[in-house]
Amino acid sequence: MADILDGKALADRIKQRVKKEVVSLQKNGIDVGLGLLLVGDNPASVQYFNTTLGACRRVGITAHEFRLPDTVSLNELLNGIHAINHDERIHGLLMLMPLPARINARRVINTLVPEKDIDGLGSISVGRLSADESTIQIIRQEGTNTPSRHALTPAVWSFLPCTPFGVIRLLEHYKVPIRGRHAVIIGKSLAVGKPLAMMFLAKEATVTICHRETRDLGSMTRQADILCSATGKAGLIRGDMVKRGAVVVDVGINMLQDGTMTGDVDFGSVIKKASLITPVPGGVGPVTVAMLLENTVRSAKRSDMPPPSTMHK
Ligand SMILES: NC(=O)c1ccc[n+]([C@@H]2O[C@H](COP(=O)([O-])OP(=O)(O)OC[C@H]3O[C@@H](n4cnc5c(N)ncnc54)[C@H](OP(=O)(O)O)[C@@H]3O)[C@@H](O)[C@H]2O)c1
Repeated sequence: MADILDGKALADRIKQRVKKEVVSLQKNGIDVGLGLLLVGDNPASVQYFNTTLGACRRVGITAHEFRLPDTVSLNELLNGIHAINHDERIHGLLMLMPLPARINARRVINTLVPEKDIDGLGSISVGRLSADESTIQIIRQEGTNTPSRHALTPAVWSFLPCTPFGVIRLLEHYKVPIRGRHAVIIGKSLAVGKPLAMMFLAKEATVTICHRETRDLGSMTRQADILCSATGKAGLIRGDMVKRGAVVVDVGINMLQDGTMTGDVDFGSVIKKASLITPVPGGVGPVTVAMLLENTVRSAKRSDMPPPSTMHK
Protein backbone atom coordinates (compact mmCIF):
# COMPACT_ATOMS: atom_id res chain seq x y z
CA MET A 1 0.00 0.00 0.00
CA ALA A 2 1.41 3.38 -1.03
CA ASP A 3 2.31 6.23 1.30
CA ILE A 4 0.82 9.62 0.58
CA LEU A 5 2.78 12.54 -0.88
CA ASP A 6 1.14 15.25 1.19
CA GLY A 7 1.06 18.38 -0.96
CA LYS A 8 -0.98 20.36 1.52
CA ALA A 9 1.65 19.97 4.26
CA LEU A 10 4.49 20.94 1.90
CA ALA A 11 2.50 23.92 0.60
CA ASP A 12 1.99 25.15 4.19
CA ARG A 13 5.75 25.02 4.81
CA ILE A 14 6.50 26.91 1.59
CA LYS A 15 3.87 29.53 2.42
CA GLN A 16 5.30 30.06 5.90
CA ARG A 17 8.68 30.77 4.34
CA VAL A 18 7.10 33.06 1.74
CA LYS A 19 5.32 34.99 4.50
CA LYS A 20 8.62 35.66 6.27
CA GLU A 21 10.19 36.82 3.00
CA VAL A 22 7.26 39.15 2.37
CA VAL A 23 7.72 40.76 5.79
CA SER A 24 11.43 41.19 5.26
CA LEU A 25 10.87 42.76 1.82
CA GLN A 26 8.31 45.12 3.36
CA LYS A 27 11.01 46.25 5.80
CA ASN A 28 13.09 47.16 2.75
CA GLY A 29 10.24 49.17 1.28
CA ILE A 30 9.01 46.54 -1.17
CA ASP A 31 5.35 45.62 -1.05
CA VAL A 32 5.07 42.30 -2.92
CA GLY A 33 2.28 42.38 -5.53
CA LEU A 34 0.69 39.69 -7.68
CA GLY A 35 -1.63 40.49 -10.59
CA LEU A 36 -4.50 38.11 -11.24
CA LEU A 37 -6.13 38.30 -14.65
CA LEU A 38 -9.45 36.57 -15.20
CA VAL A 39 -11.39 36.84 -18.45
CA GLY A 40 -14.96 35.57 -18.31
CA ASP A 41 -16.32 33.21 -15.67
CA ASN A 42 -15.01 29.72 -16.42
CA PRO A 43 -15.81 27.89 -13.12
CA ALA A 44 -12.39 26.19 -12.82
CA SER A 45 -10.63 29.52 -13.47
CA VAL A 46 -12.85 31.35 -10.97
CA GLN A 47 -12.03 28.71 -8.36
CA TYR A 48 -8.26 28.98 -9.00
CA PHE A 49 -8.55 32.80 -8.97
CA ASN A 50 -10.29 32.78 -5.57
CA THR A 51 -7.93 30.19 -4.08
CA THR A 52 -4.91 32.26 -5.14
CA LEU A 53 -6.53 35.45 -3.83
CA GLY A 54 -7.00 33.83 -0.40
CA ALA A 55 -3.44 32.49 -0.41
CA CYS A 56 -2.07 35.96 -1.22
CA ARG A 57 -3.95 37.43 1.73
CA ARG A 58 -2.61 34.81 4.10
CA VAL A 59 1.05 35.46 3.20
CA GLY A 60 0.75 39.25 2.94
CA ILE A 61 1.10 39.54 -0.85
CA THR A 62 -1.03 42.34 -2.31
CA ALA A 63 -3.33 40.96 -5.00
CA HIS A 64 -4.19 43.24 -7.93
CA GLU A 65 -7.37 41.89 -9.48
CA PHE A 66 -8.21 42.29 -13.16
CA ARG A 67 -11.60 40.78 -14.00
CA LEU A 68 -12.57 41.32 -17.61
CA PRO A 69 -15.74 40.29 -19.42
CA ASP A 70 -15.83 37.51 -21.98
CA THR A 71 -16.42 40.19 -24.61
CA VAL A 72 -13.05 41.93 -24.07
CA SER A 73 -11.19 42.68 -27.29
CA LEU A 74 -7.63 41.57 -28.01
CA ASN A 75 -6.52 45.22 -28.08
CA GLU A 76 -7.99 45.95 -24.67
CA LEU A 77 -6.33 42.87 -23.25
CA LEU A 78 -2.93 43.76 -24.74
CA ASN A 79 -3.21 47.32 -23.39
CA GLY A 80 -3.95 45.86 -19.98
CA ILE A 81 -0.83 43.67 -20.16
CA HIS A 82 1.30 46.64 -21.25
CA ALA A 83 0.03 48.58 -18.23
CA ILE A 84 0.92 45.65 -15.95
CA ASN A 85 4.40 45.47 -17.51
CA HIS A 86 5.01 49.04 -16.36
CA ASP A 87 3.24 48.81 -13.00
CA GLU A 88 5.99 48.68 -10.38
CA ARG A 89 3.55 47.40 -7.75
CA ILE A 90 3.04 44.17 -9.68
CA HIS A 91 5.89 41.66 -9.59
CA GLY A 92 4.17 38.84 -11.40
CA LEU A 93 0.97 38.09 -13.29
CA LEU A 94 -1.18 34.99 -13.15
CA MET A 95 -3.28 34.74 -16.31
CA LEU A 96 -6.13 32.33 -15.85
CA MET A 97 -6.47 30.01 -18.84
CA PRO A 98 -8.23 29.39 -21.11
CA LEU A 99 -8.84 32.78 -22.65
CA PRO A 100 -11.89 33.04 -24.94
CA ALA A 101 -11.27 31.03 -28.13
CA ARG A 102 -11.38 34.13 -30.37
CA ILE A 103 -8.42 35.66 -28.49
CA ASN A 104 -4.90 34.71 -29.60
CA ALA A 105 -3.67 33.48 -26.23
CA ARG A 106 -0.02 33.16 -27.30
CA ARG A 107 -0.03 36.81 -28.38
CA VAL A 108 -1.34 37.84 -24.98
CA ILE A 109 1.06 35.60 -23.04
CA ASN A 110 4.05 36.82 -25.03
CA THR A 111 3.14 40.46 -24.39
CA LEU A 112 3.92 39.99 -20.70
CA VAL A 113 7.59 40.74 -19.98
CA PRO A 114 9.55 37.61 -18.96
CA GLU A 115 10.45 39.37 -15.69
CA LYS A 116 6.80 39.11 -14.64
CA ASP A 117 6.02 35.78 -16.32
CA ILE A 118 5.90 33.93 -13.01
CA ASP A 119 4.10 30.93 -14.52
CA GLY A 120 6.79 30.53 -17.16
CA LEU A 121 4.40 30.32 -20.11
CA GLY A 122 5.93 32.90 -22.45
CA SER A 123 8.19 31.83 -25.29
CA ILE A 124 11.29 33.33 -23.66
CA SER A 125 10.64 31.48 -20.40
CA VAL A 126 9.95 28.24 -22.29
CA GLY A 127 13.15 28.69 -24.30
CA ARG A 128 15.24 29.38 -21.22
CA LEU A 129 13.87 26.26 -19.56
CA SER A 130 14.65 24.21 -22.68
CA ALA A 131 18.15 25.68 -22.81
CA ASP A 132 18.71 24.76 -19.15
CA GLU A 133 19.12 28.42 -18.24
CA SER A 134 16.51 28.34 -15.48
CA THR A 135 16.74 24.76 -14.23
CA ILE A 136 19.35 25.65 -11.62
CA GLN A 137 16.30 26.23 -9.41
CA ILE A 138 15.57 22.50 -9.30
CA ILE A 139 19.09 21.15 -9.14
CA ARG A 140 19.82 19.52 -5.84
CA GLN A 141 22.44 17.07 -4.78
CA GLU A 142 20.57 13.83 -4.48
CA GLY A 143 21.30 11.63 -1.53
CA THR A 144 22.24 14.58 0.68
CA ASN A 145 20.23 16.88 2.85
CA THR A 146 21.79 19.89 1.20
CA PRO A 147 18.96 22.22 0.31
CA SER A 148 19.09 23.33 -3.28
CA ARG A 149 19.52 26.94 -4.23
CA HIS A 150 15.83 26.97 -4.99
CA ALA A 151 14.93 28.72 -1.76
CA LEU A 152 14.11 32.34 -2.44
CA THR A 153 17.37 33.72 -3.68
CA PRO A 154 17.11 36.50 -6.26
CA ALA A 155 17.15 34.98 -9.70
CA VAL A 156 18.59 36.24 -12.92
CA TRP A 157 16.94 33.43 -14.84
CA SER A 158 13.35 32.91 -15.89
CA PHE A 159 10.58 31.49 -13.78
CA LEU A 160 9.70 27.83 -13.88
CA PRO A 161 6.03 26.96 -14.53
CA CYS A 162 4.39 26.53 -11.15
CA THR A 163 2.69 23.15 -11.54
CA PRO A 164 5.68 21.13 -12.83
CA PHE A 165 7.96 23.08 -10.47
CA GLY A 166 5.63 21.97 -7.67
CA VAL A 167 5.78 18.33 -8.82
CA ILE A 168 9.57 18.39 -8.69
CA ARG A 169 9.53 20.14 -5.32
CA LEU A 170 7.14 17.52 -3.94
CA LEU A 171 9.38 14.68 -5.15
CA GLU A 172 12.45 16.42 -3.74
CA HIS A 173 10.72 16.99 -0.42
CA TYR A 174 9.98 13.27 -0.11
CA LYS A 175 13.51 12.44 -1.30
CA VAL A 176 12.30 10.49 -4.30
CA PRO A 177 15.38 9.65 -6.42
CA ILE A 178 15.05 11.04 -9.94
CA ARG A 179 18.47 10.68 -11.56
CA GLY A 180 18.58 7.60 -13.78
CA ARG A 181 14.93 6.75 -13.11
CA HIS A 182 12.36 6.38 -15.85
CA ALA A 183 9.78 9.18 -15.64
CA VAL A 184 6.68 8.67 -17.78
CA ILE A 185 4.51 11.75 -18.25
CA ILE A 186 1.04 11.65 -19.72
CA GLY A 187 0.14 14.99 -21.27
CA LYS A 188 2.22 17.34 -23.39
CA SER A 189 0.72 20.76 -22.66
CA LEU A 190 2.89 23.86 -22.38
CA ALA A 191 1.67 24.44 -18.83
CA VAL A 192 2.36 20.98 -17.43
CA GLY A 193 3.55 18.01 -19.53
CA LYS A 194 6.30 19.59 -21.64
CA PRO A 195 7.97 21.67 -18.91
CA LEU A 196 7.75 18.73 -16.51
CA ALA A 197 9.59 16.59 -19.07
CA MET A 198 12.29 19.28 -19.36
CA MET A 199 12.66 19.41 -15.60
CA PHE A 200 12.99 15.63 -15.32
CA LEU A 201 15.61 15.74 -18.08
CA ALA A 202 17.48 18.47 -16.20
CA LYS A 203 17.51 16.12 -13.24
CA GLU A 204 18.82 13.34 -15.47
CA ALA A 205 15.83 11.05 -15.54
CA THR A 206 15.01 9.05 -18.65
CA VAL A 207 11.81 10.60 -19.93
CA THR A 208 8.86 9.33 -21.95
CA ILE A 209 6.02 11.68 -22.89
CA CYS A 210 2.63 10.20 -23.78
CA HIS A 211 -0.44 11.88 -25.22
CA ARG A 212 -3.74 11.13 -26.93
CA GLU A 213 -2.10 9.48 -29.93
CA THR A 214 0.13 7.21 -27.84
CA ARG A 215 -0.52 3.58 -28.73
CA ASP A 216 -0.97 1.12 -25.86
CA LEU A 217 -0.63 3.62 -23.03
CA GLY A 218 -0.40 0.83 -20.43
CA SER A 219 2.76 -0.59 -21.99
CA MET A 220 4.37 2.85 -21.46
CA THR A 221 3.05 3.54 -17.97
CA ARG A 222 4.09 0.10 -16.70
CA GLN A 223 7.73 1.06 -17.40
CA ALA A 224 7.56 4.11 -15.15
CA ASP A 225 9.52 4.44 -11.93
CA ILE A 226 7.82 7.83 -11.64
CA LEU A 227 4.45 8.18 -13.35
CA CYS A 228 2.89 11.63 -13.75
CA SER A 229 -0.54 12.04 -15.26
CA ALA A 230 -1.77 15.45 -16.44
CA THR A 231 -4.66 14.83 -18.80
CA GLY A 232 -7.94 15.82 -17.18
CA LYS A 233 -9.36 12.33 -17.80
CA ALA A 234 -10.79 10.88 -14.61
CA GLY A 235 -9.87 7.23 -14.06
CA LEU A 236 -7.39 7.08 -16.96
CA ILE A 237 -4.68 5.39 -14.87
CA ARG A 238 -5.74 2.09 -13.31
CA GLY A 239 -3.80 -0.24 -11.04
CA ASP A 240 -2.97 -2.65 -13.89
CA MET A 241 -1.15 0.20 -15.69
CA VAL A 242 1.27 0.82 -12.83
CA LYS A 243 4.51 -1.01 -12.01
CA ARG A 244 4.70 -2.29 -8.42
CA GLY A 245 6.57 0.25 -6.28
CA ALA A 246 6.22 3.16 -8.71
CA VAL A 247 5.80 6.73 -7.51
CA VAL A 248 2.54 8.13 -8.91
CA VAL A 249 1.88 11.85 -9.25
CA ASP A 250 -1.64 12.82 -10.23
CA VAL A 251 -1.75 16.34 -11.66
CA GLY A 252 -5.25 16.00 -13.11
CA ILE A 253 -8.22 17.89 -11.72
CA ASN A 254 -11.65 16.67 -12.73
CA MET A 255 -14.99 17.77 -11.31
CA LEU A 256 -17.46 14.90 -11.18
CA GLN A 257 -21.19 15.41 -11.62
CA ASP A 258 -21.78 15.03 -7.88
CA GLY A 259 -19.45 18.01 -7.32
CA THR A 260 -16.50 16.01 -6.00
CA MET A 261 -12.99 16.58 -7.28
CA THR A 262 -10.88 13.72 -8.58
CA GLY A 263 -7.63 13.28 -10.46
CA ASP A 264 -6.66 11.16 -13.48
CA VAL A 265 -5.71 8.23 -11.31
CA ASP A 266 -8.04 5.53 -10.06
CA PHE A 267 -6.80 6.00 -6.51
CA GLY A 268 -8.33 2.81 -5.06
CA SER A 269 -6.56 0.41 -7.42
CA VAL A 270 -3.31 2.38 -7.87
CA ILE A 271 -2.60 2.87 -4.16
CA LYS A 272 -2.24 -0.92 -3.89
CA LYS A 273 0.57 -0.98 -6.47
CA ALA A 274 2.45 2.30 -5.94
CA SER A 275 5.00 3.08 -3.23
CA LEU A 276 4.06 6.77 -3.06
CA ILE A 277 1.03 8.56 -4.47
CA THR A 278 -0.43 12.08 -4.49
CA PRO A 279 -4.08 12.44 -3.50
CA VAL A 280 -6.53 14.74 -5.30
CA PRO A 281 -7.36 17.08 -3.70
CA GLY A 282 -4.40 17.75 -1.40
CA GLY A 283 -1.55 16.72 -3.71
CA VAL A 284 -0.11 18.80 -6.53
CA GLY A 285 -2.80 21.54 -6.39
CA PRO A 286 -1.78 23.24 -3.12
CA VAL A 287 1.91 23.05 -4.06
CA THR A 288 1.16 24.81 -7.38
CA VAL A 289 -0.34 27.78 -5.53
CA ALA A 290 2.58 27.85 -3.09
CA MET A 291 5.06 27.88 -5.99
CA LEU A 292 3.18 30.77 -7.58
CA LEU A 293 3.59 32.77 -4.37
CA GLU A 294 7.24 31.75 -4.15
CA ASN A 295 7.90 32.85 -7.73
CA THR A 296 6.18 36.18 -7.01
CA VAL A 297 8.49 36.81 -4.07
CA ARG A 298 11.47 35.74 -6.18
CA SER A 299 10.45 38.37 -8.71
CA ALA A 300 9.96 41.02 -6.03
CA LYS A 301 13.45 40.34 -4.68
CA ARG A 302 14.80 40.86 -8.13
CA SER A 303 12.98 44.18 -8.40
CA ASP A 304 15.40 45.51 -5.79
CA MET A 305 18.25 44.99 -8.25
CA PRO A 306 19.25 47.26 -11.15
CA PRO A 307 16.94 46.54 -14.09
CA PRO A 308 18.43 44.17 -16.66
CA SER A 309 19.22 45.80 -19.98
CA THR A 310 16.86 43.36 -21.69
CA MET A 311 13.84 44.67 -19.74
CA HIS A 312 11.15 45.69 -22.21
CA LYS A 313 10.29 49.36 -22.07
N1 LIG B 1 -2.97 20.39 -9.86
C1 LIG B 1 -2.73 21.56 -10.46
O1 LIG B 1 -2.27 22.50 -9.85
C2 LIG B 1 -3.02 21.68 -11.91
C3 LIG B 1 -2.46 22.72 -12.65
C4 LIG B 1 -2.68 22.75 -14.03
C5 LIG B 1 -3.50 21.79 -14.59
N2 LIG B 1 -4.07 20.83 -13.81
C6 LIG B 1 -4.92 19.79 -14.37
O2 LIG B 1 -4.08 18.91 -15.10
C7 LIG B 1 -4.80 18.40 -16.22
C8 LIG B 1 -4.03 18.75 -17.47
O3 LIG B 1 -3.94 20.15 -17.60
P1 LIG B 1 -3.36 20.80 -18.93
O4 LIG B 1 -3.49 22.25 -18.80
O5 LIG B 1 -2.04 20.19 -19.22
O6 LIG B 1 -4.45 20.24 -19.97
P2 LIG B 1 -4.44 20.19 -21.56
O7 LIG B 1 -3.77 21.38 -22.12
O8 LIG B 1 -5.85 19.88 -21.96
O9 LIG B 1 -3.54 18.91 -21.91
C9 LIG B 1 -3.97 17.63 -21.64
C10 LIG B 1 -2.96 16.65 -22.18
O10 LIG B 1 -3.41 15.34 -21.89
C11 LIG B 1 -3.38 14.54 -23.06
N3 LIG B 1 -4.48 13.57 -23.01
C12 LIG B 1 -5.80 13.83 -22.93
N4 LIG B 1 -6.51 12.68 -22.92
C13 LIG B 1 -5.60 11.68 -23.00
C14 LIG B 1 -5.70 10.26 -23.06
N5 LIG B 1 -6.89 9.67 -23.01
N6 LIG B 1 -4.57 9.54 -23.16
C15 LIG B 1 -3.35 10.15 -23.19
N7 LIG B 1 -3.20 11.49 -23.15
C16 LIG B 1 -4.30 12.24 -23.06
C17 LIG B 1 -3.55 15.50 -24.22
O11 LIG B 1 -2.99 14.91 -25.37
P3 LIG B 1 -2.95 15.68 -26.79
O12 LIG B 1 -1.91 16.74 -26.65
O13 LIG B 1 -2.55 14.61 -27.75
O14 LIG B 1 -4.32 16.22 -27.00
C18 LIG B 1 -2.78 16.72 -23.69
O15 LIG B 1 -1.41 16.64 -24.02
C19 LIG B 1 -6.18 19.02 -16.12
O16 LIG B 1 -7.02 18.14 -15.40
C20 LIG B 1 -5.96 20.27 -15.31
O17 LIG B 1 -7.12 20.69 -14.62
C21 LIG B 1 -3.82 20.76 -12.50
